[in-house]
Amino acid sequence: MTVLSLQGVGHAYLGRTVLDRIALDLSAAEIVALVGPSGCGKSTLVHIAAGLLEPTHGRIRRDYRRHGVVFQEPRLLPWATARENIAFPLRLAGVGSGERRRRAEAAAMRVALAPEDLEKYPVALSGGMRQRTAIARGLVVDPDFVYFDEPFTALDVALKRRMQDLVIDAARRERFAALFVTHDLSEAVRLAHRILVLDADGLGIEGERSVPGAPGERSDTQVFHVVQGFLSEDPLFRRIHDVDERRVA
Ligand SMILES: Nc1ncnc2c1ncn2[C@@H]1O[C@H](COP(=O)(O)OP(=O)(O)OP(=O)(O)O)[C@@H](O)[C@H]1O
Ligand SMILES: [Mg+2]
Repeated sequence: MTVLSLQGVGHAYLGRTVLDRIALDLSAAEIVALVGPSGCGKSTLVHIAAGLLEPTHGRIRRDYRRHGVVFQEPRLLPWATARENIAFPLRLAGVGSGERRRRAEAAAMRVALAPEDLEKYPVALSGGMRQRTAIARGLVVDPDFVYFDEPFTALDVALKRRMQDLVIDAARRERFAALFVTHDLSEAVRLAHRILVLDADGLGIEGERSVPGAPGERSDTQVFHVVQGFLSEDPLFRRIHDVDERRVA
């Protein structure tokens, strides 16, 4: 069953085209990674798909129940505690305070935030904690579709793995689908069913590859070999490394 469908989607900022002819379908419980060089329009595409930005042209159909969004930056309210930030979408939905508290705590636990961190304001949280607060806020609404825009970049290796496993498990158990932007090809290979590569100038999706095996069942060695294969033998991925190097520089 298709839960998200984009057809002929394009966008221009102030007359400058950044996305064009984007066609994309996602099935229930499918994790699709979206990769492409910096500035090629990945965040723009995510915002359009999530309904946060009106595309200049094209059609979008959403057949999921409820989505969550984890943005590229944490985007927390500075005057609210971590707990209040996580519960914010529930407050907007009119959920009562007792249930808000319970669900915010459960979401915080999933992203390994300690109870004492929940009373802190964003300024008193580390970068990784802020991002985890934002991830918990994306999950608190019990979504069946989640948009992730490079969500784990600020996390250390162990936490990153834990968060990836959380996405994989949730997709399997709760049948949640995800559109997952990442610069990290190993991350894409580890957690996705399918990888889409956006054209460097955002002009369409350059190509896609299914990842062998199923998310959660690939060993580290398998992930390593698939990534090596993509990078050394598959022309579709030839520009992925340029981006990583540019980012580090
Ligand atoms: N609000 C805006 N107004 C004008 N131009 C914008 C705006 N937001 C993004 N752009 C431009 O659109 C292009 C695509 O930006 P976008 O943020 O979607 O890229 P991205 O692929 O997510 O990049 P990154 O990997 O660095 O996050 C860039 O050239 C950017 O400068
Ligand atoms: Mg981006």
